[in-house]
Amino acid sequence: MNQADLFEDVVTLPDPRGQADYDRLVGLDDYKARLVKETLLLVDPGQLRDWNKKHHKGELAAVEYFHSRPPLFVLAGDVGTGKTALARSYGNQVARLAKVRVELFALSLNTRGSGAVGEMTRLISGAFKQVREAVGRTRGSDGKAGRGIILLIDEADALAQSREAAQMHHEDRAGVNALIRGIDDLAAERLPVAVVMCTNRLDAIDPAVRRRAAAVFEFVRPSHEQRLVVLKAGLAGSGFSDRDLGHLADATGEAHGRHYGFTYSDLTQRLIPTLVLDAFPEGGLVGARAVEIAKGLKPTPPFREQMPTGVHGAQHGR
Ligand SMILES: Nc1ncnc2c1ncn2[C@@H]1O[C@H](COP(=O)(O)OP(=O)(O)OP(=O)(O)O)[C@@H](O)[C@H]1O
Ligand SMILES: [Mg+2]
Repeated sequence: MNQADLFEDVVTLPDPRGQADYDRLVGLDDYKARLVKETLLLVDPGQLRDWNKKHHKGELAAVEYFHSRPPLFVLAGDVGTGKTALARSYGNQVARLAKVRVELFALSLNTRGSGAVGEMTRLISGAFKQVREAVGRTRGSDGKAGRGIILLIDEADALAQSREAAQMHHEDRAGVNALIRGIDDLAAERLPVAVVMCTNRLDAIDPAVRRRAAAVFEFVRPSHEQRLVVLKAGLAGSGFSDRDLGHLADATGEAHGRHYGFTYSDLTQRLIPTLVLDAFPEGGLVGARAVEIAKGLKPTPPFREQMPTGVHGAQHGR
């Protein structure tokens, strides 16, 4: 099975565009820092040893807990809140800090297979095998790896859905087992590979997969202040006053009986381009007009509300 069948794309980091994407993400500083540190220590575990020596005379027992810990991170939450963007871009920071090449392998959704017996299992095992071969085993005398890999499993609920679900096909269950084995093998061999799963439905992920996660990050829609940061960045140069921007942040929040505001992507991919195209080509942007437009746009409903009534509840007992 070749790489093109298994992976949507393989990107070598650092690259300038990825860094710009990473820098533009708002409200995710804690998650950024944590993911970067975790992956940095997979690539260069000696840094934790040095830290232990420096601050605890090398005696801190807790550093042992980092050996053979499953290198799995789950980014879960609402639509358009930066899960994919963060997973795809944070490796830039790791590459720069560790001074090694980091590659992002994005598992193709084809990996789910067509349902033929053994297919999903073969595809998932094949993907882990390719990643292990690509990353190699060479480490320097200080334990530092020559490169790192981030294996991205986007829309992971499709792949790692709970084996408990009664209607789950036998073939899917075997696939989940292959996934668990793949993650466990990476941990046992201490390879410099981080597995990052993104999902809108944390509760649909198999418990055995979830329990392996070294961290689960929850992503939510932007607050008023965070919307303001995104609007300010996107509308820099527009001449809008702080008052205009404040009104725009108000108009994109919870309002008119709606209990949710705009997602980050509603702001960057829908609202701001709409404002530009409304003004183009006759004139420039005008604050009052922008607020009027924002009031007329509807934010993307939260993920659960997009599901047909009953489906989610029936499957998950609530
Ligand atoms: N935290 C954020 N700060 C700034 N911009 C953001 C943020 N989150 C998302 N965006 C913007 O929205 C776009 C889409 O985000 P992304 O694809 O990462 O969302 P997602 O959480 O993966 O959504 P989905 O659950 O629908 O897959 C990004 O490319 C970016 O322009
Ligand atoms: Mg996504």
